[in-house]
Amino acid sequence: MKNPVNVLCIGAGYVGGPTMAVIADRCPHVTVNVVDINPARIRAWQTDDLPIFEPGLLEVVKRARGRNLFFSTDIEAGIAAADIIFVSVNTPTKTFGEGAGRAADLQYWEKTARQILACSTTSKIVVEKSTLPVRTAEAMDRILNSNPRGLRFEVVSNPEFLAEGSAVKDLEQPDRVLIGSHETPEGVRARTAVADIYATWVPRDRIIESSLWSAELSKLVANAFLAQRISSINSISALCELTEADVDEVAYAIGADTRIGPRFLKASVGFGGSCFKKDILNLVYIAQSHGLDEVARYWEAVVRMNEWQETRFVRRMLATMFNTVAGKRIALFGFAFKAETGDTRESPALEVTRQLAAERAHVVISDPQALDNARIDTKGLEGTIDFDADPYAAARGAHAIAVLTEWSLYRDLDWARLLASMERPAFVFDGRNILDHQRLFDLGFNVFAIGKRPLRHV
Ligand code: NAD
Ligand code: UGA
Repeated sequence: MKNPVNVLCIGAGYVGGPTMAVIADRCPHVTVNVVDINPARIRAWQTDDLPIFEPGLLEVVKRARGRNLFFSTDIEAGIAAADIIFVSVNTPTKTFGEGAGRAADLQYWEKTARQILACSTTSKIVVEKSTLPVRTAEAMDRILNSNPRGLRFEVVSNPEFLAEGSAVKDLEQPDRVLIGSHETPEGVRARTAVADIYATWVPRDRIIESSLWSAELSKLVANAFLAQRISSINSISALCELTEADVDEVAYAIGADTRIGPRFLKASVGFGGSCFKKDILNLVYIAQSHGLDEVARYWEAVVRMNEWQETRFVRRMLATMFNTVAGKRIALFGFAFKAETGDTRESPALEVTRQLAAERAHVVISDPQALDNARIDTKGLEGTIDFDADPYAAARGAHAIAVLTEWSLYRDLDWARLLASMERPAFVFDGRNILDHQRLFDLGFNVFAIGKRPLRHV
């Protein structure tokens, strides 16, 4: 039997909650406490109405909760009891002072480090789970090991690569787990202790060990490369619309080259999510701080292309709908930043809503999971914005439908019924290229997809 280990996770969000649930599920010898300053979030984790929607997560939580998985707001007691502390607090983009709009805001992270120091009576391993600028562990080291009590804190970087909507699968069968530490005997011992937890269910050859700095930087670079692929294919989508090439055919053709590969080449209204933009801007800031302006400009273009794609989508709607949407009802199908999640952070749907509302359209937002967040996000926007979980009700009397999230339910709707309830000419703007465009056109819709020739009756 393996030695019992006491793990604490500070931060019960999209990463902390699912990651710890899977660790507890797979490692009965590990006691996992998850703490957060947000009591409502912790209460929700204690019920079957979890604070985040992730397919399969409730089953995992239910298997471990009360056995070796516990949720609490008692951060101090959690710290005191832990051998290994994962820190998974939010690290948003800084909105003030030096580096505003680009640098990572490390205030939550640093507060946590100071609290760990204040509440510890034994030496511990502190694991960076949050995404952080390269060399953050240096500052952590200094804060934590500045104590006069002789306690030793070994900082390890174990960035998380899960994607929302597939978090449980990504955690149960990860492509890789990355663990970085100092190359000292204590550092290597700490990273082995963390690796041993994962090795309970992850094959050893998928556990990559590296230096601290490589692990920290690899996380930012992984997100930058993924987002870069989307911006690259989105840039080509604009060219396709003008040349009658089809972006899905182009993506298929280039993705068949094993050196390029087929994934993350789906053209769209734009990428969203809490991390791509934040992490690229962070990379840009780090490059600038090292005087690498060309590097900074190169990566910044990925974000700029994404913003341009969102705006281009709305401009195309406007141009198609006779240069005015004022007073016209427009149904938005999907508000989440991707399917299978209720998360709306940085969702392209928000920018599309903002721009349509500014054009005085009557926007009706529909989504199977994200309406609560959509209400919060659109509060304060000028214009008329309504919400309806039922897509048929949202589309009734509309001039146009825009698909902004790739929920499969939208593919399976009764589009003849939708058309019958809409104004004419009726427009569909498929921001995710998930619909059967020819069939919709045959029904009578005017269809505009990303990177494709328009199918129009008018
Ligand atoms: P989140 O906002 O969902 O969760 C963070 C949690 O930390 C919140 O519940 C907050 O209340 C809590 N918190 C903040 N300060 C605290 C403190 N001092 N003590 C206790 N709790 C505190 O964020 P998230 O999406 O889980 O992201 C966390 C980190 O993981 C970020 O650095 C992010 O970049 C990274 N990441 C996120 C994803 C993702 O899919 N969301 C994937 C990989 C990595
Ligand atoms: C992304 C990464 O995929 C994870 O590896 C990483 O851990 C995470 O960010 C993070 O650090 O937060 P996530 O943002 O949850 O995960 O979801 P993705 O599947 O990467 O999708 C991001 C956005 O890109 C979505 O808006 C999605 O619709 C869009 N996308 C994705 C495209 O437009 N085209 C594609 O081909 C793929």
